[in-house]
Amino acid sequence: MDNNCNCNNDELLENDAFVNPTPTDRIPDNPTPPEVAYQIVKDETYPQTQPKLNLATFVTTYMDDYATKLMNEAININYIDETEYPRIAVMNAKCINIIANLWNTPETAAWKTGALAIGSSEACMLGGVAAWLRWRAKRKAQNKPFDKPNFVISSAFQVVWEKFAMLWQIEMRTVPLTLENTTLDAKEALKMCDENTICIVPIMGVTWTGLNDDVEALDAALEEYNKQTGFDIPIHVDAASGGFILPFVDPENKWDFRLKWVLSISTSGHKFGLVYPGLGWVVWKDKQYLPDKMSFSVNYLGAEVTQVGLNFSRPAAQILGQYYQFIRLGFSGYKKVQSDSLSVCGYLHSEIAKIPVFKNYSNEIPNPLFIWYMDPEYDKTAKWTLYDLQYKLQQSGWMVPAYTLPSNLDNFVVMRVVCKQGFTRDMAGMLINDIKDAIAEFEKLDYPTNTRVDISRAQNDKKQMFNHTGK
Ligand SMILES: Cc1ncc(COP(=O)(O)O)c(C=O)c1O
Repeated sequence: MDNNCNCNNDELLENDAFVNPTPTDRIPDNPTPPEVAYQIVKDETYPQTQPKLNLATFVTTYMDDYATKLMNEAININYIDETEYPRIAVMNAKCINIIANLWNTPETAAWKTGALAIGSSEACMLGGVAAWLRWRAKRKAQNKPFDKPNFVISSAFQVVWEKFAMLWQIEMRTVPLTLENTTLDAKEALKMCDENTICIVPIMGVTWTGLNDDVEALDAALEEYNKQTGFDIPIHVDAASGGFILPFVDPENKWDFRLKWVLSISTSGHKFGLVYPGLGWVVWKDKQYLPDKMSFSVNYLGAEVTQVGLNFSRPAAQILGQYYQFIRLGFSGYKKVQSDSLSVCGYLHSEIAKIPVFKNYSNEIPNPLFIWYMDPEYDKTAKWTLYDLQYKLQQSGWMVPAYTLPSNLDNFVVMRVVCKQGFTRDMAGMLINDIKDAIAEFEKLDYPTNTRVDISRAQNDKKQMFNHTGK
């Protein structure tokens, strides 16, 4: 029982809720005392994995007490009620300004062009829709067909782009990754482009590998391509993770609005923006790149309220959290947090490299996450798989996902850790010890594990395991 609950024992004693099944289909006929309802909900949802040991998620699992207090105090505020809470709308605009400047916006207007989102998914959708509408308007003006739009991305796309393609019926053309080309190959991407290409989407902080696509090379190749073809295919950068890493730890890397064809960028405030979920941001290089058609106004909230977004109501607390983090940490604070995460990640990476049965996928760690796989020679005779290791680590509370790489590399089973603020060098040491202990146990096995023996069963199991496609 949770001791934080201000439980009234009489209520608990007199109530049958603990001996009856909780409702699954229908709302109960009668109320339940709050202490009891609290306890039931709490018990059912008590984290199965401690958030800090969840190394699968990119999403913030730690904020300091003041940030948490601020966000809790704003829990009953709906962002869309701008008339009632105008300062929050201003704070939102200040956050967009700060992020636009971190990404080197050339826009000179006092208020930069961007939008709040519930996460990167919504932010990516908005960037994608803007590119589509710009392309459509141009095609219409030229009296050309506009019924077959497409966009180009590497096969390591996050599932949001599959949703974008399906929901807006825009063809997704994917450049397959290979062992040689572990990130988006600009030449291959351009081969897939044509007059119907609304944009190319490089990824900073590829979900599957942690690597960055080379946006500068893509921009240069696109400059040539657009010149030769007369097209003006732009770039939307999906910087869900990298958007809050690169400005602080690799400011010389040109991937942002310093590049000619980068017209929009999206990121997750709730990943390395260091805010609890859900928060995303999208910024355009200039107001001219955000089609007017994407702004919708309503007049029934006490004034004319104009918004760009897929959702209408949304929590305001995350905006307070984001602005707090900007003030609290400042540039140097963010830099320290991200560098620390990279340093813990680097430590783990070097320790994994020392374990003879593993191979790191890349020597580079541009974002605080990396993947590794089983040494192919060892793999031939091993009685266990990385899926077994995932399960084993779960028994000690860790969530370290094993999954297959995207198509073309999908015979590679890999394991990934994402290092976030709050994951310390000590915890990384504990994880390494748990991994070594698990391997020592696996090596004593007389018979192969189920995942090793039964490929079809392993395939089945994989469906229930962590992957990025949501399938
Ligand atoms: C590259 C990339 N894009 C988009 C997303 C979707 O982000 P969100 O969960 O914030 O909607 C993710 C999430 O992991 C991602 O890694």
